[in-house]
Amino acid sequence: MKQLGLGIIGLGVGRGALLLNEDPESPIAVRAVADLDSERLEQATSEYGVAFATTDYRELLARPDVDVVGVFTPDHLHAEHLPATLEAGKHVICTKPLLTTLDDCDNVVGLVRRTGLKFVVAQTWRFIPHIIAVKQAVDDGRIGRISLIETGYIHDLRGVCEKTPWRVTAPQNFLFGGGAHAIDCLRWFAGNVSEVSAFAMNSGVIPGYPIEDIWILNLIFESGALGRVLVMCGSVNNRSEGLAGGNKHLQIYGTEGTITGIDIGVDGTPQHSNLEVQPPQVAGALIEGPAAGLVPHFSKMADWIKNDETPDPDVVEGARGIAVAVAAQESLKTGRVVKVRNDF
Ligand SMILES: NC(=O)c1ccc[n+]([C@@H]2O[C@H](COP(=O)([O-])OP(=O)(O)OC[C@H]3O[C@@H](n4cnc5c(N)ncnc54)[C@H](O)[C@@H]3O)[C@@H](O)[C@H]2O)c1
Repeated sequence: MKQLGLGIIGLGVGRGALLLNEDPESPIAVRAVADLDSERLEQATSEYGVAFATTDYRELLARPDVDVVGVFTPDHLHAEHLPATLEAGKHVICTKPLLTTLDDCDNVVGLVRRTGLKFVVAQTWRFIPHIIAVKQAVDDGRIGRISLIETGYIHDLRGVCEKTPWRVTAPQNFLFGGGAHAIDCLRWFAGNVSEVSAFAMNSGVIPGYPIEDIWILNLIFESGALGRVLVMCGSVNNRSEGLAGGNKHLQIYGTEGTITGIDIGVDGTPQHSNLEVQPPQVAGALIEGPAAGLVPHFSKMADWIKNDETPDPDVVEGARGIAVAVAAQESLKTGRVVKVRNDF
């Protein structure tokens, strides 16, 4: 099959895709990039051989050699960039959070249905080796039926906010920005969420950050299982360094066993050997940082297109995750338990 052409809009975390150009066997390669930052554009062309670079993303969308577009712009711009990309006839890989309102979700879900294009939400936790191992154990029935599941996005974001000031000025809503990881993780394991109640506050730890940076969500799933999500971005000297760093805890209590932290204790026996999963690589080299979770989405997209399969998580799964955060916002505002919309 001929190599697919990829365009990337937004070269912050999105520049991880450039690693694809180091692998001649990759089914997809970056042919065009768009960003407002000329240094980032220059790096893509000079170091990774990207042929076309522009500050106007519409020029990228107009290119016939671009089949798939990665949207990696700040959260609040996805509502503009996703419809424009689909209307230009390109398949989409969108970073999290997909969007931040239900109206925007309806618009994008409608466009995906109308165009028949492939659309995946790049949820990088789904490629963390420890989480893959836990998922395998749960899918194999090792802990029975899930009765309670908990995770959190816990991150001292002060340094990140200094480097990416839009997070404070736009502002990024961390319930969506970081919470999207934790909410998607719980949905991946336990399915649709039916109701949410939430508390939140602003720690004052991140200079100038104007809205809540700590959230606690209590959930009930359609299965009857209970869940809890902690979004803690007002933490101090506490970095997110993978599940092993302890800041992305995942605890799952089932009817026949328990999984806590990185110890998979099934029937009371720690099962560290379950965690032996190959980390993602490009051309035989290990991938570091968030790119490790991003890069596999691009080669998978090539397969989904070739085999005409629905990507996972697709736009509907993405919208259902956003609906959990929207329900949490509503719960904070009203002080009530709020039903989650799942009918997209
Ligand atoms: N693990 C993950 O999945 C992960 C990690 C970090 C960020 N993200 C997400 O990625 C997105 C970007 O975050 P980031 O940390 O890379 O931010 P960033 O500020 O480092 O990068 C964003 C880039 O987009 C560019 N940009 C802004 N407006 C643009 C426009 N109109 N056209 C073209 N380019 C434009 C900026 O110049 C910048 O280079 C956010 O949605 C964020 O939530 C995901």
